[in-house]
Amino acid sequence: MTQKAEAKTGKVFMPAKIGSLQLRNRIIRAGCFEGMCPEGCVSNELIEHHRAVAAGGTAMTTVAYCSVARDGRAYGHELWMRQEVLPDLKRLTDAIHAEGGAASVQLGHCGFFASRSAIGHQPIGASRKFCTYRMSFPRPMNEQDIVEVREQFGQSAKMAIQAGFDAIEIHAGHGYLLSQFLSPYTNKRKDQYGGSLENRIRFPKSVVQHVREAVGPDFPIFVKMNTTDGIKNALEIEDAVVVAKAFEEAGASALIPSCGFTAKTPFMMLRGNRPIKMMAFNQKNPLQIIGLILFGSFLVQYYEYQDMFLLDRARQILSAVNIPVVLLGGICSLDNMQTAMNEGFEFVQVGRAIIKDPDIVNKMQRGEVTQSDCDHCNRCVAAMDKDGVRCVCNTDGPLKKKK
Ligand SMILES: Cc1cc2nc3c(=O)[nH]c(=O)nc-3n(C[C@H](O)[C@H](O)[C@H](O)COP(=O)(O)O)c2cc1C
Repeated sequence: MTQKAEAKTGKVFMPAKIGSLQLRNRIIRAGCFEGMCPEGCVSNELIEHHRAVAAGGTAMTTVAYCSVARDGRAYGHELWMRQEVLPDLKRLTDAIHAEGGAASVQLGHCGFFASRSAIGHQPIGASRKFCTYRMSFPRPMNEQDIVEVREQFGQSAKMAIQAGFDAIEIHAGHGYLLSQFLSPYTNKRKDQYGGSLENRIRFPKSVVQHVREAVGPDFPIFVKMNTTDGIKNALEIEDAVVVAKAFEEAGASALIPSCGFTAKTPFMMLRGNRPIKMMAFNQKNPLQIIGLILFGSFLVQYYEYQDMFLLDRARQILSAVNIPVVLLGGICSLDNMQTAMNEGFEFVQVGRAIIKDPDIVNKMQRGEVTQSDCDHCNRCVAAMDKDGVRCVCNTDGPLKKKK
């Protein structure tokens, strides 16, 4: 079968159900922080961004990152879920639905790397672990904080439904708060939430359970989780398999295996070029600008890009659970998507290839393209801190010298 014919008939473009939700195909736009929420509010730019993704044929687009509390934000221009943003979020979900797409929202809390200037006080974390990204220590969470954050996840999930979202994605990866509990790198607790893997899972699992109770039995809950933190003596795939089973037991509808720790190994989840100078000049904090320029290439580790770079580890998650698993990470071609389906993944999530061309899914389905021309220069990552996420190659041309 030619790739063009396969595009019309292959499983990638077949509708799929997850919980109560019907999706028009198997391609979901991965949560990619948009940087389009000044003062934590929904902008028209954010609405247009996701409308265009839905118009481009993607089955579901993920609004990211949305904190469950004001205190869970790494930037002042990050959204946090609250009653006052619901009317604008409803405009956003209406715009996505009008294009025939479904809407998901990534709910999380960034814990120890929250921005002190955005939240107004010391961040909370699993333990008193120094955060090199913020050059500060968090306040270790007490039992009351644990109950409160769990409650914030449940409340945010309910608000997401009120705002018209069709699914939620709980962020339990990338070194965000739930991942800080799962990882021995950040979790040094001596109580029932630290030490053994069983203890480290306790809080994140209870969050998923709580959200399931809040949204009812059929509402789709995706959980994004790490398969490795990319740090010595931290979470690795053997632990991740146990974590995946725990999330399944807690009521997750689907899992999204990923990797990397934002405050320590941020480019592991992306791979490819590190646009360090651009990242430096897009920061507001002068110390971060100087630090990144002087030490960026030492602090920010390089990981070589590869198509489907999470496939091996995601396979191990897939064989451990009985719920759908989403393949993410370097899905750049129709061939990659077909491979994912053939391997038994129910969905793929695509980040940069859709940032590069929001119409790529329609173009693939029509047989016009089979491959993204995203070159993983990762300048979209630097852009999100300044003017909002966009493909810089589309406006400024491709990166000439990769640094
Ligand atoms: C600009 C940008 C912003 C991102 N922001 C988030 C985020 O807010 N939450 C998250 O879980 N992952 C985030 N990611 C990671 C993506 O969801 C995805 O895991 C990664 O880009 C690999 O997928 P890809 O190869 O299809 O781009 C971001 C990626 C990019 C490129």
